[in-house]
Amino acid sequence: MLILLIYFLYNPILYVTTDEVIGPLTKDFQNWLNENGYEGYNFSRPDLGPTGSYGGRAQHSVTIKNDPIVFIHGNSDGALAIPGNFSSGWTDTIEYFLSKGYTSAELYATTWGDRNPLNALGRTHSCETLTYLKQFTEAVLKYTGHSKVDVISHSMGVTVARKVVIGGMFFDENDTICNLGPTLTHKIDTFIGLAGANLGMCECQGLSNADPTCNKRNGFWPGDNCGENNMTCPIHPQPKPCNEPYYSDFLTQLNTHPIKEASYVYSTWSLADDIVGFQCLVYGRNTSLIPLSDRVKVYRNLTHMETKECTVSDQYDMIVNHYLPSGLPPVKVHV
Ligand SMILES: *[C@@H]1O[C@H](CO)[C@@H](O)[C@H](O)[C@H]1NC(C)=O
Ligand SMILES: *[C@@H]1O[C@H](CO)[C@@H](O)[C@H](O)[C@H]1NC(C)=O
Ligand SMILES: *[C@@H]1O[C@H](CO)[C@@H](O)[C@H](O)[C@H]1NC(C)=O
Ligand SMILES: *[C@@H]1O[C@H](CO)[C@@H](O)[C@H](O)[C@H]1NC(C)=O
Ligand SMILES: *[C@@H]1O[C@H](CO)[C@@H](O)[C@H](O)[C@H]1NC(C)=O
Ligand SMILES: *[C@@H]1O[C@H](CO)[C@@H](O)[C@H](O)[C@H]1NC(C)=O
Repeated sequence: MLILLIYFLYNPILYVTTDEVIGPLTKDFQNWLNENGYEGYNFSRPDLGPTGSYGGRAQHSVTIKNDPIVFIHGNSDGALAIPGNFSSGWTDTIEYFLSKGYTSAELYATTWGDRNPLNALGRTHSCETLTYLKQFTEAVLKYTGHSKVDVISHSMGVTVARKVVIGGMFFDENDTICNLGPTLTHKIDTFIGLAGANLGMCECQGLSNADPTCNKRNGFWPGDNCGENNMTCPIHPQPKPCNEPYYSDFLTQLNTHPIKEASYVYSTWSLADDIVGFQCLVYGRNTSLIPLSDRVKVYRNLTHMETKECTVSDQYDMIVNHYLPSGLPPVKVHV
């Protein structure tokens, strides 16, 4: 007993609890980023303090066993939880993976945007955000030396992350073009989309010119008509027959891309989602379904943030075992 106690006293690393989630990026990763041309991106987000980012080797000698995971959060959220704030980041998920033996060298999150919910309607898929996260994902691949990473995404982060891994040309709402570079789909083992809005959001019906987040070009505009139905996005079933509405160009392009985002693709959502709303149906179609998903799972009673916070063991099973408990093959939708 005494010997054990002395052992712990002289080996502080052993009694620091391994499941404490403290950002920002480790010194080792930050040094590597600075030495490899990434210093201009500020992936550690020094402006946001320790909750602005997470990940990297705690010591230079750490070996990386598991494929690293890249986390992509949604609109106004961030890398880690801000105590007392709605923005819970990826803290719950990271805590769970650490408790299962993952290390900080296998778990990577940064923050895109300023986390301020008052700016939510101004955020849309943009060259700036997509480039930033593409560079971050590539940096994680290079720094860890693994040939594959996993991606876990939530909310607006789902469509952001899908484009990040698909790569190629992107047009923003002002027709500014950026080239996101070569596709990463063959370098992603598992891609998880939690509560995304792949077919847009009914909240954006009729608002294509109102807010960047709802715009027709690269926002969440779901279309204003479907067949003879006019402005009926949230209604299920639709009053008149309806196949495919004309919706956001960016989302249409993503959904008709013929190649899976990863070797294993999963979509999950909740019927009680309070942000996507309307049981996650858009003109009668499941908007949280990534079209080429292998398995899907629909929770009955989770809020939008809870689809990320309260599903960590399912996230772990999908990543580690390629298994989604109670998951089913998807019911295909017209895209
Ligand atoms: C990176 O962060 C530093 C410190 O907050 C700031 O001075 C610099 O302008 C930032 N760079 C960019 C590209 O945002
Ligand atoms: C949550 O944090 C963000 C970013 O710091 C801040 O803009 C917002 O006001 C905070 N909200 C609450 C309710 O504290
Ligand atoms: C597009 O143009 C509008 C109007 O000039 C501007 O407010 C907005 O910031 C631009 N969006 C981007 C992504 O540059
Ligand atoms: C759809 O409905 C809106 C009002 O709800 C109306 O202004 C518009 O003209 C209608 N469009 C069509 C094609 O019927
Ligand atoms: C769903 O959750 C809400 C809030 O936690 C609770 O009031 C309600 O009873 C739950 N409904 C079901 C069907 O479990
Ligand atoms: C939505 O997806 C679920 C799960 O795959 C499926 O059971 C349901 O039929 C779908 N709903 C519609 C309207 O397609």
